[in-house]
Amino acid sequence: MTTSFAIRLEHPGDEAAIHDLVKRAFAPMPFSDGDEQHLVDALRRDGDLILSLVAAEPAGTIIGHIAFSPVTIDAAHCHWFQMAPVSVEPSRQLGGIGTALITAGIERLRSAGACGVAVVGNPAYYERFGFAQFPGLVPLSDHDKPYFRAIALNGEPPSGTLRYAPAFG
Ligand SMILES: CC(C)(COP(=O)(O)OP(=O)(O)OC[C@H]1O[C@@H](n2cnc3c(N)ncnc32)[C@H](O)[C@@H]1OP(=O)(O)O)[C@@H](O)C(=O)NCCC(=O)NCCS
Repeated sequence: MTTSFAIRLEHPGDEAAIHDLVKRAFAPMPFSDGDEQHLVDALRRDGDLILSLVAAEPAGTIIGHIAFSPVTIDAAHCHWFQMAPVSVEPSRQLGGIGTALITAGIERLRSAGACGVAVVGNPAYYERFGFAQFPGLVPLSDHDKPYFRAIALNGEPPSGTLRYAPAFG
């Protein structure tokens, strides 16, 4: 389904709509633990939601969301960020909204001088944006390793163990 939308920063007052959207987006996913909407709330509460973008229809309805939060590599803060979760309204999926959110988020972080972004998800989807495996950069969780990809934005790719924000558990 084609739909008209614009990407913008989260505004105060968007919180409930984002929570509900994330819940709807992940509900049908077999890998979902049903907690993704609470993850976004926890990142915001902790001050770790450093970039929160929404896709909004002309009438204002939020139909997509992406969250970025800081990570550490070998326990050091390093201007690297985790991209998660990415959520698109089920009836609007496969219409380019996820692509627009991911591209906009990465470009904002690149312009702001971020060193890189990591993601855990289907490599077939994320590799199209330039995410790749970096020898030596590994997530703390063994479970995440097969799905872990990263993209360097400024500077050399680092090596070490990447740890997500506390809200990820
Ligand atoms: C995954 C998601 C964010 C993608 O956003 P979207 O707006 O639906 O996708 P886009 O329109 O930008 O991209 C569509 C393309 O990506 C592919 N794609 C979409 N989701 C995919 C997935 N989970 N795995 C592999 N490929 C995927 C489509 O097949 C399509 O490929 P094509 O361009 O070759 O036809 C969205 O489908 C979603 O919210 N899914 C439920 C929640 C989720 O799984 N989030 C990601 C967790 S890691």
